[in-house]
Amino acid sequence: MSDTQDKNKLPVIRFPEKADLFCHDLPTKPRADIGRVLVTGATGYIGGRLVPELLERGYQVRVMLRGSTSEHAPPWPGMEIVAADALDLSSLKKVLTGIDTAYYLIHSLMRGPKEFESADLQAAINFRKAAEENEVKRIIYLGGLGEVKTLKSPHLQSRIQVAEELLRGKVPVTILRAAIIIGSGSASYEIIHNLVSKLPLLPLPRWARSRCQPIGIRDVIKYLVGVLEIPRTSGRNLDIGGKDILTYEMMLKVFAGIVHKRRIFLSFPISNIWLYAYFASLITPVPDPIILSLMKGVRDEVICRDDKIKDYLPFEPLTYQEAIVRALTREEQDKVYTRWSDAYPPAHELAIKLHELKEIPKYTTSYSLLSGKSASFLFNSICRIGGKAGWFNNNWLWRLRGAVDRILIGVGSSRGRRSYSSLKINDVIDFWRVEDIQQDKRLLLRAEMKLPGKAWLEFNINEEDGLRKLSVTPHYYTKGLLGKIYWYIFLPLHNFIFNDLIKQIERRC
Ligand SMILES: NC(=O)c1ccc[n+]([C@@H]2O[C@H](COP(=O)([O-])OP(=O)(O)OC[C@H]3O[C@@H](n4cnc5c(N)ncnc54)[C@H](OP(=O)(O)O)[C@@H]3O)[C@@H](O)[C@H]2O)c1
Repeated sequence: MSDTQDKNKLPVIRFPEKADLFCHDLPTKPRADIGRVLVTGATGYIGGRLVPELLERGYQVRVMLRGSTSEHAPPWPGMEIVAADALDLSSLKKVLTGIDTAYYLIHSLMRGPKEFESADLQAAINFRKAAEENEVKRIIYLGGLGEVKTLKSPHLQSRIQVAEELLRGKVPVTILRAAIIIGSGSASYEIIHNLVSKLPLLPLPRWARSRCQPIGIRDVIKYLVGVLEIPRTSGRNLDIGGKDILTYEMMLKVFAGIVHKRRIFLSFPISNIWLYAYFASLITPVPDPIILSLMKGVRDEVICRDDKIKDYLPFEPLTYQEAIVRALTREEQDKVYTRWSDAYPPAHELAIKLHELKEIPKYTTSYSLLSGKSASFLFNSICRIGGKAGWFNNNWLWRLRGAVDRILIGVGSSRGRRSYSSLKINDVIDFWRVEDIQQDKRLLLRAEMKLPGKAWLEFNINEEDGLRKLSVTPHYYTKGLLGKIYWYIFLPLHNFIFNDLIKQIERRC
C-alpha cells in the first residue's frame, strides 16, 4: 500500500517505490538463464534492500527467514518464503533445494561480542555443506575488507573466516569485500550522524587517523546484483569501495561540514576502545554490544587492495559526501526501507513473544476510552508513537526511562524508529519492538529495555455501541520478588502515563 493510495491509512508495510531502487543504471542486463535465487539474511540491512531489486529485474526469488513465515509474508508480496536457521543443517538442506544462486548475507553481530564469531562460523560450515549437497551453482557472499593476519578486530576477522569457510566447498563463491557502508539506516552512518549532531566537541583518539574506504549502500547493492549478471565473476574475490579513502577523523569533519555544524575536534591521549564504545552507545542509537564490535574495527586499515571490480562493473561509485547527502535525503523523505536494528536474533530471550509464554502474565492493567473517531484514524495515531515525535506527552519521563536503560547498557530509547510514517513487524520504536500489527485493530509492542521481568504494551481498537473503544494494556511477566516490587512501585506512574497516552492518541488522530 502506498501513501498516495489512501492518505488516511498508515502503510504498515512499505516496499521501495520503483524510483527508489538502485539498479536501473547498472551496466548489466537481467539474465534469463539464472534459475531460482536464494537471499539469506533477507530481514537484515543489506538483504532487505537486495530483494526488491532482484524482483524488479524479474528473478525468481526465495527468501530465507528464521522467524515464522506467516508473520513475515505481508512485507514480501508474491515471494517464496522459506523458514530455516543456518545453525540447523537439516533446515538449510530444504531451503537450498532447487536453488541456482544463493546470496550469503547471514551475520550474527546482534548476538554480541561473546557469541557472534562461533555462530557465524557454524552457519557458514552448514551453508557450505547444504549448498554442495543441493548442487547450488554459485554463492555470492558480502564480507569485510582486510587481511586476516593483520586484522585486530574480531568482527572483521570473523567475516574473513566465513569467506574462507565458504571457499572450502565445491560450490564456486563470489566474494565481495566492503568496509563500512554508508546509507540511510546503516549503523555506521547513524553513529557518525549522531556523534556530529549531538556533540559540540569531538575527542579524537589516535585510531581516528586509521584509513577506511566507505561505500554507499546504493553501490553495494549494484555490485551484488551486477556480479550475479556476470558469470565470469564466479569464484572471484573482489574488493568494493567508494570513491574516497578517508580517515575516521575526516569522515566526522566532512559530515559536520555537510550538516553545517561547527564542531571542535580535539586530539585525545586516551585510546581505550571500550570507553569510547560505551560513551558512543550513550550518544547514538546503536547499543553498546554492536558499537563495541564495530569500533574494534576502527584500529584496522580497511581499504580496497585493487580495483579489479571495475573490469566487470565499470561504473563510478559514489564519493563519501554523495553517499551522506543521499542518506540524509532519504531520511528527510522518510524513505528508510531497512535499518541496522531490523535483524534480530530470535534465539535471544528478549524475543519470546506474548503468546509463547507458558503462563498468562499476572500483572496487567487496561486503560481505555470510547471515541467517535474511525478505527483507521485512531490506528494511524497509535502507530506514530515514539521516535522523534515522542510519546505525545510526558516525553521527559519516557526519555528518563531510556537514559536509565542506556546507563545499564540496555538499548535505551534513542534507537527511535526506522520511519515516522510506517511500521512493520520487528521494527523498533525506542525501547520497544513491534511484535504484532493488525491494521486498524491491534499493535503489540515487546519491551527490550532492562527489566526484572518481561513486558508488552498492547493497543487495541474494538467496536462498542457504535463507538470505538481504544485501549492500552501493559502486560508484565515476572516471577522474582524484584520484578513484583518493580511492578507495584511503577503502577501509580503507569496509571498516570497510560491514561494520558490514550487521551493524546485520540486527541491527535
Ligand atoms: N552493514 C554494513 O555496514 C556492512 C559492511 C560491510 C559488510 N557487510 C556484510 O554484509 C552482510 C550482511 O550484513 P547486514 O548489515 O545486512 O547484517 P544484518 O542487518 O545484521 O542482518 C543479518 C541477517 O542474518 C540473519 N541471520 C543471522 N543469523 C542467522 C541464522 N542462524 N540463520 C539464518 N539467518 C540468520 C538475520 O536474520 P534475523 O532477522 O532472523 O536475525 C539477518 O537477516 C554481512 O556479511 C556483513 O559482513 C555489512
